[in-house]
Amino acid sequence: MAKKERINFSKIGAIAAATGSAVGLGNILRFPYLLGESGGGAFLLVYILCVVFLGLPVMISEFSIGRMAQANAAGSFRTLAPKSKWWLVGLMGVISAFLILGFYVVVSGWTLEYIVQALSNKFANASTAQLNQVFTDFSTNTYRPVGWMLLFTALTCFIIIAGVKNGIEKSTKLMMPLLFLIIIILGIRSITLPTGTEGLKFLFKADFGKINSEVILSAMGQAFFSLSLGMGCMITYGSYINKDNNLSSTALQVTIFDMLVAVLASIAIFPAVFSFGINPAQGPELVFITLPNIFSRLHGGYIWAVMFFVLLALASLTSTISLLEVIVAFLTEELHISRAKAAIVSSLGIALLGILSSFSLGIWKDFSLFGYGFFALFDSITSKILMPVGGIFISLFVGWRIDKQKILLELSSNGKYKIPFLNIFLLITRYLAPLAILLVLLNQLGLTKWLGF
Ligand code: PHE
Repeated sequence: MAKKERINFSKIGAIAAATGSAVGLGNILRFPYLLGESGGGAFLLVYILCVVFLGLPVMISEFSIGRMAQANAAGSFRTLAPKSKWWLVGLMGVISAFLILGFYVVVSGWTLEYIVQALSNKFANASTAQLNQVFTDFSTNTYRPVGWMLLFTALTCFIIIAGVKNGIEKSTKLMMPLLFLIIIILGIRSITLPTGTEGLKFLFKADFGKINSEVILSAMGQAFFSLSLGMGCMITYGSYINKDNNLSSTALQVTIFDMLVAVLASIAIFPAVFSFGINPAQGPELVFITLPNIFSRLHGGYIWAVMFFVLLALASLTSTISLLEVIVAFLTEELHISRAKAAIVSSLGIALLGILSSFSLGIWKDFSLFGYGFFALFDSITSKILMPVGGIFISLFVGWRIDKQKILLELSSNGKYKIPFLNIFLLITRYLAPLAILLVLLNQLGLTKWLGF
């Protein structure tokens, strides 16, 4: 039987979908905090090195695996390495997608609540203490966050059911330009605040004294999470990329866009934070407490607040659809169930994990598994273990298992493009990436300390 032609993204569609996956809460919630906290410009330099030497090669590897095999994450490994255990790496990716969604949809749901709060002008005249209370009351509430989480999951499911072309490509082609527009406007607004340039100086002043092994390793972890690597997302999307597409240049563009949004988000957030002399708090608090606080004092704060939370919701949505597609592509191709059924069944499972995550911040605060609540557990297992391990195996697979000639044909689209960097690429996938990621992994598990480094 002739193999059915696989659905293909258009050139712009491929970039929109993959950038949509990469740009997410990681860029807007976590990166600015890391940058401000870990040495500003010095951290940025380390981060860029991690992205260029590890992230980019792994993304090119994932795209190649997917496009070569024309299948889902697990199916790709099985097609390229039949009768081996490599498919387990893909299966691990599918499980990672499931677990990441289990906490990601909770925070995504919060963005909807905050859009509504912004729209109803709730931040105006609220004190820091009040905003703090609002966030704590909301995030620990039993029902409200769950309701938003369910809505967000349903939205994701709906887009996935619409299909790769009509759902993923169409929606990301619409949402990504909007996202860029909003973040650029917010960035400009922030810099033009009275003391905006001081904030910028603080942000980008390179403090190399803060760079230690811990910071380097956290930059690497952030690079992987932010670029959606190590769990089959880019393998799945790669399988939809057109055979004529120049994979390395698509990966390069996605990487640049992802970095750009992270830096723009920092520019949008920090100068504003410092203009008002506010102490930058960590992670979610920065975005859900500090920012509303700033908006409440800004001229025209209402509209900035609405724009910011719409931005956050868009960034989340284009990431959750990429995560759900990993699972749905796997279920439809491996278990031969319909797309709609696969999407609904997996969304129900995700909703269940989402409920556990959300409850673990409120009524189940005291319940812990391996020392973590569910939210932190799903987050830690994926970013500290599954994604780095996935990254190592994906690099090794491309570096050692696949024939060099086959890689060259894939990257060059059968000779159409010149690939002068092939040897460097192979050097990285064979040695540098696996070893470097292994180091991250050991460090995150606390083993390097234990070994006395
Ligand atoms: N890259 C996304 C972010 O930065 C998260 C993500 C991870 C999405 C893995 C898909 C796969 O928020």
